[in-house]
Amino acid sequence: MRRPFIAANWKMNKTISETQEFISGFVLTVKDITDVDIAIAPPFTYLTVAAEKLKDTNVMLAAQDVFYAEKGAYTGEISPIMLINIGCKYVIIGHSERRQYFNETDDIVNKKIKAAKKAGLGTIFCIGESLEDRESKKTFDVLQKEIEEGLNGVDSEGIVIAYEPIWAIGTGKTATSEQAQEAHAYIRERFRTLYGNKADEIRIIYGGSVTPENIDSLMAGKDVDGALVGGASLKVESFVKIINFKKGS
Ligand code: PGA
Repeated sequence: MRRPFIAANWKMNKTISETQEFISGFVLTVKDITDVDIAIAPPFTYLTVAAEKLKDTNVMLAAQDVFYAEKGAYTGEISPIMLINIGCKYVIIGHSERRQYFNETDDIVNKKIKAAKKAGLGTIFCIGESLEDRESKKTFDVLQKEIEEGLNGVDSEGIVIAYEPIWAIGTGKTATSEQAQEAHAYIRERFRTLYGNKADEIRIIYGGSVTPENIDSLMAGKDVDGALVGGASLKVESFVKIINFKKGS
């Protein structure tokens, strides 16, 4: 049985005091939840304050990105060891916004995943097709390429994969539960060719305009194991409602 994984991706939002206020309230509200893995990925500059607030709670700290070198002359970058050092358990890698605005290629994503795993970080590895890909029936081709290149030479340990159709991110246009389940089932089949039976243990989470209103139907898909939540994770109330989803409705 795969344990649900729900993560907040705050992207480039909030101030320090908003971060503190959010986390103080949030950890109290979710403290008795024992059957869901919960993570929050604030911007880099708030990782320290978030780490303090999340200490000894059931909420894990995550980062939104990482660089692949261990240390050295890489102005502006943050290494996997630095993230471990500050208390991060997970890091988001290959988000479509990074691929789109910062020219992250599958090769760079692969290097980042390898470096993160080497340091002991869990990775939330994002893949997903554009609207154009979907309309020209290339969804599975895109997913296959991103999986094969992103996970080239990588074992399945510590990998959570986020299926995020680009057309659904921040647009209010969620994939239907059938579209999500279809893509997740495809991804699991690809994993089966890469990892054999371990494919059944890998969590595949959905991202793209997840809200308290659509989480139950998305989670009803048998291969949908959680969510990566952007906009709706910025308010305690809506993020908590998502975490309290009802499986099977
Ligand atoms: P969204 O973002 O929930 O605001 O669509 C999800 C994501 O990009 O991870």
